[in-house]
Amino acid sequence: MHFNQLLRERYSVREFKPLKVSKALLVEVLEAGRMAPSAANKQPWKFILVSEDDNLKKLKKAYKRDWFKAAPQIIVICGDHDASWKRSFDGKDHCDIDAAIAIDHMTIRAAELGLGTCWVCHFQPDLIKEALELPEGIEPIALLPIGYPIVSKAPLKNRKQLNEVVFEEKFGQQLKK
Ligand SMILES: Cc1cc2nc3c(=O)[nH]c(=O)nc-3n(C[C@H](O)[C@H](O)[C@H](O)COP(=O)(O)O)c2cc1C
Repeated sequence: MHFNQLLRERYSVREFKPLKVSKALLVEVLEAGRMAPSAANKQPWKFILVSEDDNLKKLKKAYKRDWFKAAPQIIVICGDHDASWKRSFDGKDHCDIDAAIAIDHMTIRAAELGLGTCWVCHFQPDLIKEALELPEGIEPIALLPIGYPIVSKAPLKNRKQLNEVVFEEKFGQQLKK
């Protein structure tokens, strides 16, 4: 699939077939995350693949939604705040930005492989930390349920118009045609 089409085809999948994805395919997705760029190339991330039902059950307590209960596998993307790059001028921590890029690589590669994912950030962090026995300094940033989508066709994208989000030369100045 052409990249431009892939960007339009990826969508947040919240209905999965009750099937596990093979380790080989999941590793392809994880590899796409590993290849992501990061500030000063610090790669301040850990990806935890969870497939065993007992462990999935614990993660699902942190985000109680019916659709999430049916997620066959979950990748937990964690950030290492001790490893991430901090901007010298104001100390801004780039951990979340780096993790987000890695996650986006994974969601797009998953879509290319016919898999569905959905970013989940609205979880109870303490429950995730406990379930995964995360060490101090390692923060769970997102949960990425992954599996075969029941509906493979993306719904119509609900996005702001280009002229609402793009300016030219200075803030508020419309892009000239
Ligand atoms: C940082 C981030 C956090 C999100 N958290 C959640 C979430 O907790 N639960 C959920 O159902 N969707 C979540 N989403 C999915 C968004 O709702 C979804 O990406 C958005 O509505 C656009 O739809 P699309 O992904 O189908 O294009 C999140 C997306 C992002 C990027």
